[in-house]
Amino acid sequence: MKRNILITGGAGFIGNHVVRLFVNKYPDYNIVNLDKLTYAGNLANLKDIENKPNYTFIKGDIADLEDMRRVITGHKIDGIIHLAAESHVDRSIKDPFTFARTNVMGTLSLLQAAKEYWESCPEKYEGKLFYHISTDEVYGALELTNPEGIPAPFTTKASAGEHEAYGSEFFLETTKYNPHSPYSASKASSDHFVRAYHDTYGMPTLVTNCSNNYGPYQFPEKLIPLFINNIRHGKPLPVYGKGENVRDWLYVEDHARAIDLIFHSGNVAETYNIGGFNEWKNIDLIKVIIKTVDRLLGNPEGHSEHLITYVTDRLGHDMRYAIDSRKLQSELGWEPSLQFEEGIEKTVRWYLDNQDWMDNITSGAYAKYYEEMYKSI
Ligand code: NAD
Ligand code: TYD
Repeated sequence: MKRNILITGGAGFIGNHVVRLFVNKYPDYNIVNLDKLTYAGNLANLKDIENKPNYTFIKGDIADLEDMRRVITGHKIDGIIHLAAESHVDRSIKDPFTFARTNVMGTLSLLQAAKEYWESCPEKYEGKLFYHISTDEVYGALELTNPEGIPAPFTTKASAGEHEAYGSEFFLETTKYNPHSPYSASKASSDHFVRAYHDTYGMPTLVTNCSNNYGPYQFPEKLIPLFINNIRHGKPLPVYGKGENVRDWLYVEDHARAIDLIFHSGNVAETYNIGGFNEWKNIDLIKVIIKTVDRLLGNPEGHSEHLITYVTDRLGHDMRYAIDSRKLQSELGWEPSLQFEEGIEKTVRWYLDNQDWMDNITSGAYAKYYEEMYKSI
Protein backbone atom coordinates (compact mmCIF):
# COMPACT_ATOMS: atom_id res chain seq x y z
CA MET A 1 0.00 0.00 0.00
CA LYS A 2 1.25 3.50 -0.83
CA ARG A 3 1.62 5.79 2.15
CA ASN A 4 3.06 9.25 2.81
CA ILE A 5 4.78 9.23 6.16
CA LEU A 6 6.29 12.17 7.99
CA ILE A 7 9.09 11.31 10.41
CA THR A 8 10.18 14.26 12.55
CA GLY A 9 13.66 14.41 14.09
CA GLY A 10 14.99 11.88 11.58
CA ALA A 11 18.49 13.40 11.60
CA GLY A 12 18.86 12.69 15.34
CA PHE A 13 19.98 9.56 17.12
CA ILE A 14 16.86 7.37 17.20
CA GLY A 15 15.27 9.11 14.21
CA ASN A 16 17.97 8.09 11.75
CA HIS A 17 17.51 4.42 12.64
CA VAL A 18 13.74 4.73 12.17
CA VAL A 19 14.11 6.57 8.84
CA ARG A 20 16.62 3.99 7.56
CA LEU A 21 14.37 1.08 8.57
CA PHE A 22 11.28 2.57 6.89
CA VAL A 23 13.06 3.73 3.71
CA ASN A 24 14.68 0.33 3.18
CA LYS A 25 11.79 -1.87 4.29
CA TYR A 26 8.92 -0.02 2.59
CA PRO A 27 9.89 1.06 -0.95
CA ASP A 28 6.21 1.92 -1.63
CA TYR A 29 6.07 4.49 1.17
CA ASN A 30 7.18 8.08 0.66
CA ILE A 31 9.22 8.92 3.72
CA VAL A 32 9.54 12.63 4.51
CA ASN A 33 12.13 13.40 7.17
CA LEU A 34 11.56 16.82 8.74
CA ASP A 35 14.28 18.08 11.03
CA LYS A 36 15.44 21.51 12.21
CA LEU A 37 19.07 20.34 12.26
CA THR A 38 19.78 21.67 15.73
CA TYR A 39 23.15 20.80 17.26
CA ALA A 40 21.75 17.22 17.65
CA GLY A 41 20.68 16.76 14.03
CA ASN A 42 23.30 15.48 11.61
CA LEU A 43 22.54 14.46 8.04
CA ALA A 44 25.78 12.48 7.90
CA ASN A 45 23.76 9.93 9.92
CA LEU A 46 21.71 9.23 6.77
CA LYS A 47 24.36 9.23 4.04
CA ASP A 48 23.58 5.62 3.04
CA ILE A 49 19.94 6.35 2.17
CA GLU A 50 19.87 10.03 1.17
CA ASN A 51 19.55 9.28 -2.57
CA LYS A 52 16.79 6.67 -2.31
CA PRO A 53 13.76 7.56 -4.47
CA ASN A 54 11.28 7.15 -1.60
CA TYR A 55 13.15 9.56 0.71
CA THR A 56 12.82 13.35 1.05
CA PHE A 57 14.54 15.60 3.57
CA ILE A 58 13.03 18.91 4.67
CA LYS A 59 14.74 21.33 7.00
CA GLY A 60 12.01 22.75 9.21
CA ASP A 61 10.95 23.64 12.72
CA ILE A 62 8.03 21.72 14.24
CA ALA A 63 7.11 24.80 16.29
CA ASP A 64 6.32 26.75 13.10
CA LEU A 65 2.62 26.05 12.58
CA GLU A 66 2.47 27.57 9.09
CA ASP A 67 5.38 25.45 7.90
CA MET A 68 3.85 22.31 9.43
CA ARG A 69 0.58 23.04 7.59
CA ARG A 70 2.50 23.41 4.32
CA VAL A 71 4.47 20.20 4.78
CA ILE A 72 1.57 18.00 5.92
CA THR A 73 -0.82 19.26 3.24
CA GLY A 74 1.81 19.51 0.49
CA HIS A 75 2.99 15.92 0.96
CA LYS A 76 -0.51 14.55 1.70
CA ILE A 77 0.81 13.03 4.90
CA ASP A 78 -1.28 10.16 6.31
CA GLY A 79 1.03 8.93 9.05
CA ILE A 80 3.29 10.83 11.44
CA ILE A 81 6.03 9.35 13.58
CA HIS A 82 7.06 12.20 15.86
CA LEU A 83 10.55 12.01 17.34
CA ALA A 84 11.78 15.62 17.04
CA ALA A 85 12.61 16.97 20.47
CA GLU A 86 15.19 18.54 22.68
CA SER A 87 16.39 15.41 24.46
CA HIS A 88 19.24 16.09 26.89
CA VAL A 89 18.39 16.45 30.60
CA ASP A 90 21.50 18.52 31.40
CA ARG A 91 20.65 21.06 28.69
CA SER A 92 17.05 21.25 29.98
CA ILE A 93 18.36 22.23 33.42
CA LYS A 94 20.28 25.14 31.87
CA ASP A 95 17.68 26.21 29.28
CA PRO A 96 14.14 24.95 30.04
CA PHE A 97 12.46 27.40 27.63
CA THR A 98 13.92 25.77 24.53
CA PHE A 99 12.46 22.48 25.77
CA ALA A 100 9.00 23.97 26.27
CA ARG A 101 9.12 25.58 22.84
CA THR A 102 10.14 22.50 20.87
CA ASN A 103 8.71 19.65 22.92
CA VAL A 104 5.41 21.28 23.93
CA MET A 105 4.64 23.99 21.34
CA GLY A 106 6.29 21.96 18.55
CA THR A 107 4.19 18.88 19.28
CA LEU A 108 1.07 21.04 19.53
CA SER A 109 1.77 22.70 16.16
CA LEU A 110 2.24 19.32 14.53
CA LEU A 111 -0.99 17.99 16.07
CA GLN A 112 -2.94 21.05 14.96
CA ALA A 113 -1.57 20.97 11.39
CA ALA A 114 -2.37 17.25 11.12
CA LYS A 115 -5.87 17.79 12.54
CA GLU A 116 -6.70 20.53 10.03
CA TYR A 117 -5.43 18.55 7.03
CA TRP A 118 -6.95 15.21 8.06
CA GLU A 119 -10.34 16.77 8.83
CA SER A 120 -10.30 18.33 5.34
CA CYS A 121 -9.81 14.92 3.64
CA PRO A 122 -13.00 13.17 2.39
CA GLU A 123 -12.11 10.05 4.40
CA LYS A 124 -11.26 12.27 7.48
CA TYR A 125 -9.25 10.30 10.06
CA GLU A 126 -9.59 6.92 8.38
CA GLY A 127 -6.18 5.39 7.64
CA LYS A 128 -4.39 8.15 9.53
CA LEU A 129 -2.11 7.89 12.57
CA PHE A 130 -0.20 10.34 14.78
CA TYR A 131 2.42 8.27 16.62
CA HIS A 132 4.24 10.16 19.39
CA ILE A 133 7.58 8.87 20.69
CA SER A 134 8.08 9.54 24.38
CA THR A 135 10.26 8.51 27.28
CA ASP A 136 10.02 6.55 30.53
CA GLU A 137 11.29 9.69 32.32
CA VAL A 138 7.72 11.08 32.41
CA TYR A 139 6.90 8.52 35.11
CA GLY A 140 9.43 10.03 37.53
CA ALA A 141 11.96 7.99 39.47
CA LEU A 142 11.90 4.59 41.17
CA GLU A 143 13.56 3.57 44.42
CA LEU A 144 16.91 1.80 44.60
CA THR A 145 15.48 -0.93 46.83
CA ASN A 146 12.16 -2.73 46.73
CA PRO A 147 9.87 -3.05 49.79
CA GLU A 148 11.74 -6.20 50.88
CA GLY A 149 14.97 -4.22 50.90
CA ILE A 150 16.41 -6.00 47.86
CA PRO A 151 18.66 -3.58 45.96
CA ALA A 152 18.22 -2.75 42.27
CA PRO A 153 18.98 -3.63 39.56
CA PHE A 154 16.14 -6.14 39.67
CA THR A 155 16.20 -7.22 36.07
CA THR A 156 18.66 -8.49 33.61
CA LYS A 157 17.73 -10.39 30.48
CA ALA A 158 18.20 -13.57 32.52
CA SER A 159 15.72 -12.57 35.22
CA ALA A 160 13.17 -10.85 32.98
CA GLY A 161 10.66 -13.63 33.58
CA GLU A 162 10.83 -13.19 37.35
CA HIS A 163 10.22 -9.49 37.62
CA GLU A 164 6.44 -9.84 38.08
CA ALA A 165 6.96 -10.35 41.79
CA TYR A 166 8.25 -6.80 42.14
CA GLY A 167 5.07 -5.12 40.85
CA SER A 168 5.30 -1.42 41.61
CA GLU A 169 9.07 -1.43 41.20
CA PHE A 170 8.64 -0.93 37.45
CA PHE A 171 6.99 1.69 35.27
CA LEU A 172 3.75 0.35 33.84
CA GLU A 173 1.60 2.04 31.18
CA THR A 174 -0.76 2.94 34.04
CA THR A 175 1.90 4.50 36.28
CA LYS A 176 0.97 8.05 37.23
CA TYR A 177 3.04 10.77 35.54
CA ASN A 178 5.48 12.44 37.92
CA PRO A 179 8.20 14.16 35.88
CA HIS A 180 11.07 15.89 37.68
CA SER A 181 13.40 17.48 35.13
CA PRO A 182 12.42 20.26 32.71
CA TYR A 183 13.06 17.69 29.94
CA SER A 184 10.67 15.09 31.35
CA ALA A 185 8.12 17.79 32.28
CA SER A 186 8.10 19.00 28.66
CA LYS A 187 7.77 15.45 27.33
CA ALA A 188 4.94 14.73 29.80
CA SER A 189 3.14 17.84 28.62
CA SER A 190 3.49 16.80 24.98
CA ASP A 191 2.14 13.31 25.79
CA HIS A 192 -0.92 14.93 27.40
CA PHE A 193 -1.55 17.08 24.32
CA VAL A 194 -1.36 14.03 22.05
CA ARG A 195 -3.92 12.16 24.17
CA ALA A 196 -6.09 15.28 24.37
CA TYR A 197 -6.26 15.45 20.54
CA HIS A 198 -7.54 11.89 20.54
CA ASP A 199 -10.03 12.39 23.35
CA THR A 200 -11.29 15.76 22.13
CA TYR A 201 -11.20 15.58 18.33
CA GLY A 202 -11.06 11.81 17.74
CA MET A 203 -7.62 11.98 16.13
CA PRO A 204 -6.03 8.50 15.89
CA THR A 205 -2.99 8.78 18.14
CA LEU A 206 -0.57 6.44 19.87
CA VAL A 207 2.11 7.07 22.51
CA THR A 208 5.09 4.91 23.41
CA ASN A 209 7.40 5.45 26.36
CA CYS A 210 10.85 3.94 25.99
CA SER A 211 13.83 3.43 28.27
CA ASN A 212 17.38 4.77 27.60
CA ASN A 213 18.62 3.91 24.10
CA TYR A 214 22.21 3.18 23.13
CA GLY A 215 23.94 2.38 19.84
CA PRO A 216 25.52 4.06 16.78
CA TYR A 217 25.02 7.75 15.90
CA GLN A 218 24.20 9.01 19.41
CA PHE A 219 25.33 12.58 20.06
CA PRO A 220 28.42 12.48 22.30
CA GLU A 221 26.88 14.48 25.15
CA LYS A 222 25.07 11.35 26.32
CA LEU A 223 26.79 8.93 28.69
CA ILE A 224 27.81 6.04 26.42
CA PRO A 225 29.28 7.81 23.34
CA LEU A 226 30.83 10.54 25.54
CA PHE A 227 32.63 7.99 27.68
CA ILE A 228 33.79 5.84 24.72
CA ASN A 229 35.29 8.95 23.10
CA ASN A 230 36.87 10.18 26.33
CA ILE A 231 38.48 6.80 27.03
CA ARG A 232 39.91 6.78 23.52
CA HIS A 233 41.47 10.19 24.13
CA GLY A 234 42.55 9.50 27.73
CA LYS A 235 40.19 12.20 29.06
CA PRO A 236 38.39 12.13 32.46
CA LEU A 237 35.05 10.30 32.74
CA PRO A 238 32.73 12.58 34.78
CA VAL A 239 30.53 10.31 36.92
CA TYR A 240 27.66 12.25 38.48
CA GLY A 241 27.26 11.79 42.25
CA LYS A 242 28.23 8.30 43.43
CA GLY A 243 27.44 6.60 40.13
CA GLU A 244 24.64 4.65 41.83
CA ASN A 245 21.77 5.77 39.60
CA VAL A 246 20.18 2.98 37.60
CA ARG A 247 19.12 3.17 33.95
CA ASP A 248 17.40 0.55 31.77
CA TRP A 249 19.22 0.29 28.41
CA LEU A 250 17.82 -0.77 25.04
CA TYR A 251 19.72 -1.13 21.75
CA VAL A 252 18.46 1.60 19.40
CA GLU A 253 17.66 -0.74 16.49
CA ASP A 254 15.39 -2.73 18.81
CA HIS A 255 13.53 0.50 19.57
CA ALA A 256 13.24 1.22 15.84
CA ARG A 257 11.82 -2.30 15.26
CA ALA A 258 9.30 -1.72 18.04
CA ILE A 259 8.25 1.59 16.44
CA ASP A 260 7.73 -0.16 13.08
CA LEU A 261 5.64 -2.90 14.70
CA ILE A 262 3.53 -0.48 16.76
CA PHE A 263 3.02 1.94 13.85
CA HIS A 264 1.57 -0.91 11.79
CA SER A 265 -0.12 -3.10 14.42
CA GLY A 266 -0.60 -1.06 17.60
CA ASN A 267 -4.09 -0.19 18.78
CA VAL A 268 -5.13 3.44 18.42
CA ALA A 269 -5.27 5.45 21.67
CA GLU A 270 -3.07 2.91 23.44
CA THR A 271 0.18 3.46 25.27
CA TYR A 272 2.99 0.91 25.05
CA ASN A 273 6.09 0.86 27.23
CA ILE A 274 9.25 -0.21 25.42
CA GLY A 275 12.23 -1.63 27.31
CA GLY A 276 14.49 -4.64 27.43
CA PHE A 277 14.54 -5.53 31.16
CA ASN A 278 18.17 -4.48 31.23
CA GLU A 279 18.98 -2.31 34.25
CA TRP A 280 22.49 -1.13 35.03
CA LYS A 281 23.90 0.93 37.85
CA ASN A 282 25.88 3.74 36.11
CA ILE A 283 29.21 2.82 37.66
CA ASP A 284 28.86 -0.85 36.68
CA LEU A 285 27.95 0.12 33.13
CA ILE A 286 30.92 2.51 32.98
CA LYS A 287 33.26 -0.31 34.04
CA VAL A 288 31.89 -2.52 31.24
CA ILE A 289 32.50 0.31 28.75
CA ILE A 290 36.06 0.84 30.00
CA LYS A 291 36.78 -2.89 29.79
CA THR A 292 35.38 -3.17 26.27
CA VAL A 293 37.16 -0.08 24.91
CA ASP A 294 40.48 -1.13 26.48
CA ARG A 295 40.19 -4.67 25.04
CA LEU A 296 39.32 -3.41 21.55
CA LEU A 297 42.18 -0.86 21.63
CA GLY A 298 44.63 -3.53 22.77
CA ASN A 299 45.21 -1.88 26.18
CA PRO A 300 45.85 -4.06 29.27
CA GLU A 301 42.78 -4.72 31.47
CA GLY A 302 42.11 -1.85 33.89
CA HIS A 303 44.26 0.56 31.84
CA SER A 304 41.63 3.36 31.71
CA GLU A 305 39.93 2.89 35.10
CA HIS A 306 41.94 5.80 36.55
CA LEU A 307 39.92 8.13 34.25
CA ILE A 308 36.82 7.68 36.42
CA THR A 309 36.24 11.07 38.09
CA TYR A 310 33.36 11.59 40.52
CA VAL A 311 31.82 15.03 39.98
CA THR A 312 28.96 17.08 41.47
CA ASP A 313 25.64 15.35 40.96
CA ARG A 314 23.10 16.46 38.35
CA LEU A 315 20.38 18.64 39.94
CA GLY A 316 17.29 16.56 40.74
CA HIS A 317 19.03 13.44 39.37
CA ASP A 318 16.41 10.68 39.03
CA MET A 319 17.60 7.60 40.92
CA ARG A 320 16.23 4.73 38.88
CA TYR A 321 14.26 4.05 35.71
CA ALA A 322 12.98 0.57 34.87
CA ILE A 323 10.40 -0.28 32.24
CA ASP A 324 7.90 -3.11 32.35
CA SER A 325 7.32 -3.91 28.67
CA ARG A 326 5.22 -7.04 29.09
CA LYS A 327 2.19 -5.44 27.38
CA LEU A 328 4.15 -4.89 24.15
CA GLN A 329 5.71 -8.32 24.39
CA SER A 330 2.45 -10.20 24.98
CA GLU A 331 0.07 -8.16 22.77
CA LEU A 332 2.32 -7.51 19.77
CA GLY A 333 5.02 -10.16 20.18
CA TRP A 334 7.99 -7.73 20.26
CA GLU A 335 11.15 -8.56 22.10
CA PRO A 336 14.68 -7.18 22.03
CA SER A 337 16.94 -9.01 19.57
CA LEU A 338 20.26 -8.35 21.27
CA GLN A 339 21.75 -9.39 24.59
CA PHE A 340 23.33 -6.37 26.29
CA GLU A 341 26.86 -7.82 25.99
CA GLU A 342 26.48 -8.09 22.19
CA GLY A 343 24.89 -4.64 21.96
CA ILE A 344 27.60 -2.87 23.92
CA GLU A 345 30.37 -4.64 21.96
CA LYS A 346 28.73 -3.61 18.66
CA THR A 347 28.32 -0.05 19.91
CA VAL A 348 31.89 0.39 21.14
CA ARG A 349 33.24 -1.09 17.87
CA TRP A 350 31.06 1.31 15.86
CA TYR A 351 32.36 4.43 17.65
CA LEU A 352 35.97 3.24 17.44
CA ASP A 353 35.57 2.44 13.71
CA ASN A 354 33.83 5.75 12.97
CA GLN A 355 36.22 8.23 14.51
CA ASP A 356 35.66 10.57 11.54
CA TRP A 357 31.97 10.81 12.41
CA MET A 358 32.90 11.65 16.00
CA ASP A 359 35.62 14.17 15.03
CA ASN A 360 33.20 15.88 12.67
CA ILE A 361 30.87 16.48 15.61
CA THR A 362 33.40 17.40 18.26
CA SER A 363 35.01 19.91 15.85
CA GLY A 364 31.59 21.38 14.94
CA ALA A 365 32.34 20.88 11.21
CA TYR A 366 29.09 18.94 10.56
CA ALA A 367 26.89 21.84 11.57
CA LYS A 368 28.61 24.42 9.35
CA TYR A 369 28.46 22.19 6.27
CA TYR A 370 24.74 21.50 6.48
CA GLU A 371 23.89 25.07 7.42
CA GLU A 372 25.15 26.08 3.97
CA MET A 373 23.39 23.23 2.18
CA TYR A 374 19.87 23.58 3.62
CA LYS A 375 19.01 27.20 4.23
CA SER A 376 15.29 26.86 4.94
CA ILE A 377 12.17 24.80 4.44
P1 NAD B 1 18.25 13.62 19.54
O1 NAD B 1 18.47 14.81 20.41
O2 NAD B 1 19.42 12.77 19.15
O3 NAD B 1 17.55 14.08 18.17
C1 NAD B 1 16.50 15.00 18.13
C2 NAD B 1 16.31 15.47 16.70
O4 NAD B 1 15.22 16.41 16.68
C3 NAD B 1 17.54 16.18 16.12
O5 NAD B 1 17.80 15.72 14.81
C4 NAD B 1 17.11 17.65 16.10
O6 NAD B 1 17.72 18.39 15.04
C5 NAD B 1 15.61 17.54 15.91
N1 NAD B 1 14.90 18.72 16.43
C6 NAD B 1 15.08 19.34 17.62
N2 NAD B 1 14.26 20.42 17.71
C7 NAD B 1 13.52 20.45 16.56
C8 NAD B 1 12.50 21.30 16.08
N3 NAD B 1 12.07 22.36 16.79
N4 NAD B 1 11.96 21.04 14.86
C9 NAD B 1 12.39 19.99 14.12
N5 NAD B 1 13.38 19.15 14.53
C10 NAD B 1 13.93 19.38 15.74
O7 NAD B 1 17.13 12.77 20.27
P2 NAD B 1 16.92 11.18 20.31
O8 NAD B 1 17.73 10.62 21.40
O9 NAD B 1 17.04 10.63 18.94
O10 NAD B 1 15.39 11.13 20.77
C11 NAD B 1 14.34 11.12 19.81
C12 NAD B 1 13.01 11.06 20.54
O11 NAD B 1 12.95 9.89 21.34
C13 NAD B 1 12.78 12.24 21.47
O12 NAD B 1 11.42 12.62 21.39
C14 NAD B 1 13.09 11.68 22.86
O13 NAD B 1 12.35 12.34 23.86
C15 NAD B 1 12.66 10.23 22.69
N6 NAD B 1 13.38 9.25 23.54
C16 NAD B 1 14.74 9.21 23.56
C17 NAD B 1 15.38 8.24 24.33
C18 NAD B 1 16.89 8.13 24.35
O14 NAD B 1 17.44 7.34 25.14
N7 NAD B 1 17.63 8.82 23.51
C19 NAD B 1 14.63 7.33 25.08
C20 NAD B 1 13.23 7.41 25.03
C21 NAD B 1 12.61 8.36 24.24
P1 TYD C 1 22.22 10.38 29.90
O1 TYD C 1 22.94 9.62 28.83
O2 TYD C 1 22.34 11.87 29.91
O3 TYD C 1 20.69 9.92 29.84
P2 TYD C 1 19.46 10.25 30.89
O4 TYD C 1 19.84 11.38 31.74
O5 TYD C 1 18.34 10.60 29.95
O6 TYD C 1 19.22 8.98 31.64
O7 TYD C 1 22.72 9.87 31.30
C1 TYD C 1 22.63 8.50 31.70
C2 TYD C 1 23.05 8.41 33.15
O8 TYD C 1 24.45 8.73 33.26
C3 TYD C 1 22.33 9.40 34.05
O9 TYD C 1 22.10 8.78 35.32
C4 TYD C 1 23.32 10.54 34.22
C5 TYD C 1 24.67 9.85 34.13
N1 TYD C 1 25.76 10.65 33.52
C6 TYD C 1 26.99 10.77 34.18
O10 TYD C 1 27.19 10.20 35.28
N2 TYD C 1 27.98 11.49 33.60
C7 TYD C 1 27.81 12.12 32.39
O11 TYD C 1 28.75 12.79 31.90
C8 TYD C 1 26.55 11.98 31.71
C9 TYD C 1 26.31 12.63 30.37
C10 TYD C 1 25.56 11.22 32.31
